[in-house]
Amino acid sequence: MKNIAVLISGGGSNLQSLIDSVESGKIKARISVVISSRKGVYGLERAKRHNIPAYCIQKRDFLNDKDFDKALLEKLKEYEIDLVVLAGYLNILSPQIIAEYENRIINIHPSLIPSFCGKGYYGARVHQAVIDYGVKITGVTVHFVDEGADTGPIILQKAVDVKDYDNADSLAERVLNIEHEILPKAVALFVEDRLLVDGRVVRIIEN
Ligand code: GRF
Repeated sequence: MKNIAVLISGGGSNLQSLIDSVESGKIKARISVVISSRKGVYGLERAKRHNIPAYCIQKRDFLNDKDFDKALLEKLKEYEIDLVVLAGYLNILSPQIIAEYENRIINIHPSLIPSFCGKGYYGARVHQAVIDYGVKITGVTVHFVDEGADTGPIILQKAVDVKDYDNADSLAERVLNIEHEILPKAVALFVEDRLLVDGRVVRIIEN
């Protein structure tokens, strides 16, 4: 059975959807460890409640990024991780970790990449940019992580309508619900070895 590490920085609602999907059998793997980039976030509570080993590995506790990176990599190795899922994780992973886990790191982004993504586009900022631009459709993207910011091969996407009455909060709420739907789907496909990366294109092998 594959070992999954979920990396978080906040409330962990995406982590919760993954936990629920594992416990219901939709994802045939185990969440072996949760690693947060910040202390005291609710996502760590969620892990503890489900008896999942949880750690906080944050940059400020290390002399430099190299030591931070080493600690993160050691933790992933300790748990023999096969798949890293970034679920609201705000740190940029180092090229070394990305190389070590090539096409084995999945990220979820709350827009339809390549729109409203890249440096500085995270959390509410994404939805505010969508509202300000006046697009009529936004959505969610699940993708493999490469060395760029939100540039890796796309696994799944789903559209979300932007309503005239929306503000960033109301839009964020509707988008988050779709995140909770397609992140577990993408992780399940990976775990069942049904994702084939062909250059920039991810092909899904039908059942
Ligand atoms: C949310 O803004 C979500 O859109 C993005 O990460 C943030 C935190 O989500 N993926 P979570 O509740 O911590 O999973």
